[in-house]
Parts: sequence; C-alpha cells; structure tokens
Amino acid sequence: MSIEKLFSVNGLNAIVTGGASGIGLGFVEGMAENGAVVTILDRDAARIESEVARLCGLGHKVFGEVVDITDRPAMRAAFERAAARTGRLDVTFANAGIDPGEGFARPDGGRNPGSEIDAMDDAVWDRTIEINLTGVYNTVKEAARQMKPHKHGSIIVTTSIASKMVGGMVGTPYMPAKAGAAHLVRQLSLDLARYNVRINAIAPGGFITNIGGGHTHKAEVQATFAKLIPLGRMAHPDEMKGLALFLASEASSFITGAEINIDGGMLNGMAQ
Ligand SMILES: NC(=O)c1ccc[n+]([C@@H]2O[C@H](COP(=O)([O-])OP(=O)(O)OC[C@H]3O[C@@H](n4cnc5c(N)ncnc54)[C@H](O)[C@@H]3O)[C@@H](O)[C@H]2O)c1
Repeated sequence: MSIEKLFSVNGLNAIVTGGASGIGLGFVEGMAENGAVVTILDRDAARIESEVARLCGLGHKVFGEVVDITDRPAMRAAFERAAARTGRLDVTFANAGIDPGEGFARPDGGRNPGSEIDAMDDAVWDRTIEINLTGVYNTVKEAARQMKPHKHGSIIVTTSIASKMVGGMVGTPYMPAKAGAAHLVRQLSLDLARYNVRINAIAPGGFITNIGGGHTHKAEVQATFAKLIPLGRMAHPDEMKGLALFLASEASSFITGAEINIDGGMLNGMAQ
C-alpha cells in the first residue's frame, strides 16, 4: 500500500476538543491540511472564531463550536451535529485540559507553601479532576456512542508525561488526573475493541502552547525545560501532526490501548 493511502485521513470526520489552541490546534491542522472534515470543540469563543476563519480561508473544512467538555448535554448535542456532517464520526481527539497552577516546588529550589497538600485549595483539585479526567470520560463516552454502531473509529486522548512520572513543579492534582486518563484509555481499549473502535493516548512533555496563561512562551521557561529534555528544546504544536496522521489513519490499525510519549526523550531520563 502506498504511504499516501496508508496514512490517509482524506474525508475522515474528526472532532478535536481544545482544538482552538496549542497541541489540539496542531492536530486540527494536520488533519485538515490532509483533507479531513474537522470540528473544534473548545470553550474559547474568540480563538475558535479566528482559527476557523483562518483555516477555512486556506480552503480547509473546519468547523467550530463553543462547548465546555464538562457540560454533558452540550457535548452530546455537539457530537451529534458534528457526526451528521458526513453521517459517521471517524476520529475523536480528547485533548482539552488545564494546568492547575504552581506545584509545591519552585525552579529555584524553594517551596510554594500554598500548593503543599495540607494547604491545597479544594476548588483547584475539583476543577482539575473535572476537566482533565471527567472531561475525558465525557468526551470518550460521546465518541464511543457515535462510533460503535459503525464498528469503526479511532479515539486519541492527550495525557502527559505526568501520567507516568511525578514532579513538584506541576500542581499536584494534575498527576492523578492524567494517570487516571491514561488508565481509562487502557480499560476502554478492552471495552471498545469488539466494536473495532481503537483508543490510544499520547503523552506530551514540554510543548510551547497557551496552557497556564502561556508561560511556556517565556524564554526563561523554555531554557529551564531545554536543560531537562534530552533533545535540548521544547516542542512546537506542529510536531503533533505526524502522530495525528498515524493514530487517525489505517497506519495504526493494530494499535489500541497504547500511550505514546512525545516528549523529546524526557521520560527516559532528564538530560545529562
Ligand atoms: N503544553 C504542554 O507542555 C503539555 C504537556 C503535557 C500535556 N499537555 C496536555 O495537552 C492538552 C492541550 O494543552 P495545550 O498545552 O495545548 O494548552 P492550550 O491552553 O494551548 O490549549 C488547551 C485548549 O483547551 C481548551 N479548554 C480547556 N478547558 C476546556 C474545557 N473545559 N472545555 C473546552 N475546552 C477547554 C482551551 O480553551 C484551549 O483552547 C492538555 O490536556 C494538557 O494537559 C500539555
């Protein structure tokens, strides 16, 4: 089979949560540039408007809806509308997520006492679990509901290297939320396999995006990460495109329940 056919996403109908920015937007671009019909579900109305206008202006088939992934009735309605565009939903990228703020450790070796467990703001815990874990559950549930009758589909969940390692510089609630999402993917790979619906996770580390107010755009943050990442730099969301095409297409037809690192080697060890 030719490489064009093996990795083809032409004509596929895809939903991307958190697709208006960062890693999700990289996925949207990779799919749309190669002929997929893509619906962005995001809570950021302004970014949806500008990105949909930009991508449609380039001749791509991209739609957008303002939806919060924690709003179950709104998610159901949005999935139904998006699936109806071609009559079948082929791909879902469950990617929307947040950074819960500072961890208990500071890069200078100091501490953030307000992020230590005994002082933690319960609202930060609740919100992080609600979006980064329950939001994934809500998204995957709607995707499965659309895909099962067609016995076909690929679901991709954005976890993080935080699903496999811990560290004090990231807010504590992020760790169990991402580990939970990763384990949910493994569990659902068993549930969905008999319906020929594949589900996999990607575990990014160190992408320059707008997460957490956009602190990864700062030169000093990039320099700190660069020292930790074996490849010596942070990633650009464009670098999601290859994985998007691989996991969305027939090229990954026998892969389900996997969690693929996209982290410049960081999970194998910090740079020496
Ligand atoms: N940037 C990194 O280094 C990194 C590393 C590991 C994992 N991740 C994960 O990647 C995913 C994407 O993050 P990003 O870095 O691209 O950040 P980003 O802020 O650039 O993009 C996230 C998008 O998700 C949307 N969103 C957030 N909460 C939402 C909600 N409740 N409902 C609907 N939309 C919502 C935001 O509006 C935004 O457009 C997240 O799950 C994040 O945890 C990022």
